[in-house]
Amino acid sequence: MKNILVTGGLGYIGSHTVVELIAHNYNPIIIDDLSNTNIEVLERLKKITGKEITYYKNDVCDTATLTHILNTHHIEGVIHFAAFKAVGESVQFPLKYYHNNIGGLVSLISAMEACQIKNIVFSSSCTVYGEPDFSPVGELSPIKKASSPYGNTKQIGEEILNECAFLNAVALRYFNPIGAHESALIGELPLGVPNNLVPFITQTAAGIREKITVYGNDYNTKDGTCVRDYIHVVDLAKAHVKAIDFINQNPNNHFDVFNIGTGNGFTVLEIIETFEKVNQIKLNYTIGARRVGDVEKVWANNDKASNVLGWQAELNLEKMVESAWRWQQHLH
Ligand code: WQD
Repeated sequence: MKNILVTGGLGYIGSHTVVELIAHNYNPIIIDDLSNTNIEVLERLKKITGKEITYYKNDVCDTATLTHILNTHHIEGVIHFAAFKAVGESVQFPLKYYHNNIGGLVSLISAMEACQIKNIVFSSSCTVYGEPDFSPVGELSPIKKASSPYGNTKQIGEEILNECAFLNAVALRYFNPIGAHESALIGELPLGVPNNLVPFITQTAAGIREKITVYGNDYNTKDGTCVRDYIHVVDLAKAHVKAIDFINQNPNNHFDVFNIGTGNGFTVLEIIETFEKVNQIKLNYTIGARRVGDVEKVWANNDKASNVLGWQAELNLEKMVESAWRWQQHLH
């Protein structure tokens, strides 16, 4: 399997995955509608990889064009990143999320069926676990009622894959991706005010934001702030290559899910303190009210990804926050 269609391939995780696909002798073909990234990323990918990369500006909801592309390039597998991912925005605009995230997935699978392509890696999220009864969470941990339309689109997406019998599908449940490629040429590009913690930290360090508000310090955790499993985006990208390899080597697989996290939980204050120490920068932050919908603590049991995919996270928290800061500095 050589030619891999990467939807959302100019996005944060998609672009890092394109780099790893090429490093592992796959040939990625990118589709991206540029709704949450910019075309500059394509040039930077060519600079990092030294390769010409085929790219189409396209909406995954355009099934006819998708079908044409799948046929033209003899695509043998798909990695589907193209989806909206802001939890808060999904509460404000649920239809936008159901149209793009569910409609886009249905469009993609329909085009794949028309072209007799069965191999797909799906970008899912630990958000499907909601507030777990305990951590670390394994893949068999209960799927809780989604706390946002965004989370619901990930749960429904997994169900759709499982119900399409012709597919050989793997869903990767990401924990919290942060950091950037060592070249500082690609990284997280939040448009507008960042929702996520680390881009808010780096923009505060860069003087773009006045201060960070820590959303609550009265949780039942070591320092009262929420716990998450932060994972370096390059480690996450490598997990996608392992998933494509797995599909290649297991033609009779139908649907499987894997937690992609480091297995370590860190509090918000630990992220702030580690960022300050590693980058020798004092951050301005205050403690504010809890954010509605936040989970108190969640981190991964990643044994299945390790035992079945042969995947391990290699980059530690220091590397994550150091690369995130270098990327922010490069942006300016
Ligand atoms: C992390 C922690 C906040 C900002 C979400 C989605 C998940 C994935 C990643 C798409 C929380 C705290 C944050 C701030 C803060 N999305 N925080 N001040 O909410 O764990 O996950 O984004 O793939 O699916 O659910 O990530 O980075 O928003 O928050 O205190 O300004 O940082 O309360 O505890 P989250 P996050």
